Amino acid sequence: MQIFSTPAEMQAWSDNCRTAGRRIGLVPTMGALHTGHLALIADAAERSDDVVVSIFVNPLQFNEVSDFDGYPRPIDDDVAACEQTGVAAVFAPTAASMYPMGFQTRVVPGPLGAVMEGPTRPGHLEGVLTVVVKLFGAVRPHVAIFGEKDYQQLRIITQMAADLEFGIDVVGHPVVRDLDGLALSSRNVHLTDSERAAAVAVPRSLDAAIVAARVSDDLTDLISAATSVIDAEDAAVLEYVTVFDSITLIEFNDLAGVQRVPGVARIATAVRFGDVRLIDNRDLFESSET
Ligand code: PAJ
Repeated sequence: MQIFSTPAEMQAWSDNCRTAGRRIGLVPTMGALHTGHLALIADAAERSDDVVVSIFVNPLQFNEVSDFDGYPRPIDDDVAACEQTGVAAVFAPTAASMYPMGFQTRVVPGPLGAVMEGPTRPGHLEGVLTVVVKLFGAVRPHVAIFGEKDYQQLRIITQMAADLEFGIDVVGHPVVRDLDGLALSSRNVHLTDSERAAAVAVPRSLDAAIVAARVSDDLTDLISAATSVIDAEDAAVLEYVTVFDSITLIEFNDLAGVQRVPGVARIATAVRFGDVRLIDNRDLFESSET
């Protein structure tokens, strides 16, 4: 397995792969790899000849210094995990090589960035798009895999790749969950034992709204079903819960007239447990059939 620490080294390797007619699959990450990331890597392996995993804790997308400083960075474990899963190359650039002196360009999302994580984490989505463009430029993949765990991120990246003619196939991978339903996240390690136990309220709040959606068109019924699950946990502070069009991300006012089939409507939430902020989302009608 190759390890590259500058965009120039990465590009040179990628150019050779392309010349050899090999299809490159990219899985961008910030490291602290867990089973969710590994599922994306396995997905990429099925869609390409050579998988590249990028590991870069991107300073541009953090809007809280303590979140950036405290972000887990177990680089040796991450490299070993990549090696074990047959990854061809790890791209782990230094911040100085990604953002050298004089770097100034930003990539800004359109209306897809005006909801959910947009207003609640100022600058975050812009930081994500900017680094993803840099990763695309360094790795030059044919296909890139992103998790539905960060659904809005997946949507803005899909839109950007289409809008800017990258010719990169952006693929979404379903949310990978722990046994109790909590979505896997690198930030889960920061939860205390009691917060971790309470955090199951996050997926359960979405379950409750999905159950409510089976019998009601009234969004207040769904939102209050979700909210009451979160409110029952003392440690949990709800930031938002919202039901929206899966493609445009525009919030629904009610469900009357909305087609009750998978891929049409989603529900997403952000909940804080102390300093740890968790996000989750589900397809509103996918799950009603299970
Ligand atoms: P990170 O949080 O490390 O996540 C890397 C990728 O793994 C993202 O596409 C994310 O959606 C996906 N992922 C994380 N947890 C998942 C889970 N439980 N199930 C399925 N997929 C999951 O997201 C980022 O890094 C960054 O914003 C990045 C895109 C790398 C840009 O810096």
